[in-house]
Amino acid sequence: MSLFSKWLGKLRFGVFTESDMNRNQVKTEEEPTGDSIPGHIAIIMDGNGRWAKARGLPRIAGHHNGMKAVKRITKAANRVGVKVLTLYAFSTENWKRPKAEVEFLMKLPQEFLSLELDELVENNVQVRMMGNRELLPDHTIHAIEEAVRKTAHNTGLILNFALNYGSRVEMVEAARELARKAVAGEIDPNEIEEADFESLLLSSGLPDPDLLIRTSGELRLSNFMLWQAAYSEFWFTDVYWPEFSEQHLFDAIREYQRRARRYGGL
Ligand code: FPP
Repeated sequence: MSLFSKWLGKLRFGVFTESDMNRNQVKTEEEPTGDSIPGHIAIIMDGNGRWAKARGLPRIAGHHNGMKAVKRITKAANRVGVKVLTLYAFSTENWKRPKAEVEFLMKLPQEFLSLELDELVENNVQVRMMGNRELLPDHTIHAIEEAVRKTAHNTGLILNFALNYGSRVEMVEAARELARKAVAGEIDPNEIEEADFESLLLSSGLPDPDLLIRTSGELRLSNFMLWQAAYSEFWFTDVYWPEFSEQHLFDAIREYQRRARRYGGL
């Protein structure tokens, strides 16, 4: 049995204690309210590996607990009235990781949805995916497609997984499509507007993120929603994603509510 399978077994059979895995279930107080709740929050969920390493656990334990944070934060975001929650779950660059880690990450959407889909349906959440479907294993795509289908008529929070997502590829694809249309004589290059480009992005139809959060102390965008984040408010925290609590989300929202968004005006 490989080391990876052993750890996977431990995760599945709960050898890691609940206190290892759930020490971040902070009691909820002071939920933000008001008109200025950000409509779209996008999160770069970073620090799973370091969270695990700090506890002497394998990296996949960090990802597994990161999945629990996804549940916690989805529920909290829905409760306070966020309309879209985009989560960066796997980037086009993450394929460079060891095969076993990639395989584990590819199983997480399936595991998450097998545990949570009924509750997501009950809570009127709409699941979506933003990313290149090619290269994703069939089991990952099937799980996501089932969730998308079963929640398509829901009208509450949009839970948008960025999976095999990369902003540069997304923009190059949009540019290619515009070029193809221009060559075919369907559009005049001089008439191309921002909205034409935007309509060809994977986020088409969604509002731009109002608030972009990155956990784990890293201060960069890592190829995430480069176009869409042009006017997003950024909020960074040193907290590792598996420890990101409802309170952290609410702190970010409250800070957002104190910001003045000027969009280049006065
Ligand atoms: C970055 O942390 C995190 C990832 C590449 C994976 C994020 C995935 C999850 C949080 C789980 C997703 C769950 C679902 C349901 C799709 P890192 O591994 O780079 O951490 P490190 O920088 O500390 O090494």
